[in-house]
Amino acid sequence: MPGLFKLREIPPTAGMSLYLSDFFSTNTNLERGLEIYFDKKTKIRLLSSGTAALIVILNALKKLSPQKDEVIIPAFTCPLVAIACNQAGLKIRLCDFEKESDQLDINLLNEIINDKTLCVIPTHLGFYPQKMQEILSLAKSKNIFVVEDAAQALGSTINQEKTGLLGDVGFFSLTAGKGLTIFEGGFIACANQVILDQLDQSINELASFDFFSEFLLSLKLIAYKFLYNPLALSIVYGAPLRANLKKGDEIKALDEVFSLQIPVRKVGSFRRAVGLSALKRLNEFTSEKKHHAQILISKLKELEAQGLFLVKESSVSIEGSFAYVLVRTKKEQMRDKILNSLWSQGLGVSKAFACELTAYKYLETLVPRISCPNAESLARQTITISNSKYLSESDIDEIIALIKSQIKD
Ligand SMILES: Cc1ncc(COP(=O)(O)O)c(C=O)c1O
Repeated sequence: MPGLFKLREIPPTAGMSLYLSDFFSTNTNLERGLEIYFDKKTKIRLLSSGTAALIVILNALKKLSPQKDEVIIPAFTCPLVAIACNQAGLKIRLCDFEKESDQLDINLLNEIINDKTLCVIPTHLGFYPQKMQEILSLAKSKNIFVVEDAAQALGSTINQEKTGLLGDVGFFSLTAGKGLTIFEGGFIACANQVILDQLDQSINELASFDFFSEFLLSLKLIAYKFLYNPLALSIVYGAPLRANLKKGDEIKALDEVFSLQIPVRKVGSFRRAVGLSALKRLNEFTSEKKHHAQILISKLKELEAQGLFLVKESSVSIEGSFAYVLVRTKKEQMRDKILNSLWSQGLGVSKAFACELTAYKYLETLVPRISCPNAESLARQTITISNSKYLSESDIDEIIALIKSQIKD
């Protein structure tokens, strides 16, 4: 079909490439490798996805505080977070963001927390860390757990402390596109022995090993090695994206049509060994991304004068791991205009998530229909620009020129 295929497709996020040698590695102790990477007393538990990790965490916390059955989540986050809360049998409460910000509204959070609140799940949205210190001290004073959603934030730091280790328990995603990947996977990071014992009990109860799905995922991981490049991505990622955008189905275009029942599984030796081998390059990959993001951000700065502003923390003590850069427009219409012309161009311009949680039809029965105006504008005024190594300086210039032409008209 004409128009669906392009010669080059920049992935929407900076995923890590795999080496052939990763597939011949025999050491399978990815958990231990991650514990060494974090350089802390933190223990790691590997599971089939970030969502599976969150389901296990919530089940464990529920057992520790059985009288509490509510969870607070950001009103703009991955739909899988809401699905995990529901699967763990918890009632969802939404927390809005600060005005024109990607930070949870602490005052609102303070108001929402009640006797039934088990935990809050701050999300390091778009790789920009949340202000954890404020969230942690509020949670402590209210006696609730903090579950850090670091699904997108492997490599981010706050005051040189790695994100994901700051709350009572954190989780990360190893799903394709998040950086380090085993195609689909996730892990829990926890240093609290009481929670850890309960996590192990929940893993025993919930997680099984499925040979067939593991075999398929191993094949997909091999395919990822060969297809994660601009030429192949134009076929396996770009063509379906453009077809779905043509149909006006943004949720499908972003691959956000999820089942409401997510499997909780263990990960097999082959994928563990590949992940551990690739993990050795994670620090190098993170610093390359930071360097690439600096170039991208400095070039994008020229758009600020044109009514666009970057969503970026000014504090130097907070560093994102930058799989993409989040750009915010002052008006929704301007964002839509930019996306209409750039989303299908193969230049790595996309959205963080399709919409705010209350706008997903299929989450209707899970998510309370309340108004969260700041989450709405965050969802409706932002675009993401890939920080992939495949995005060259001339690609960035092309994006800027296209954005400028849209703003002008
Ligand atoms: C913020 C956030 N939380 C949780 C998840 C779930 O992770 P996974 O896809 O590994 O299940 C994602 C995945 O996109 C995410 O972006």
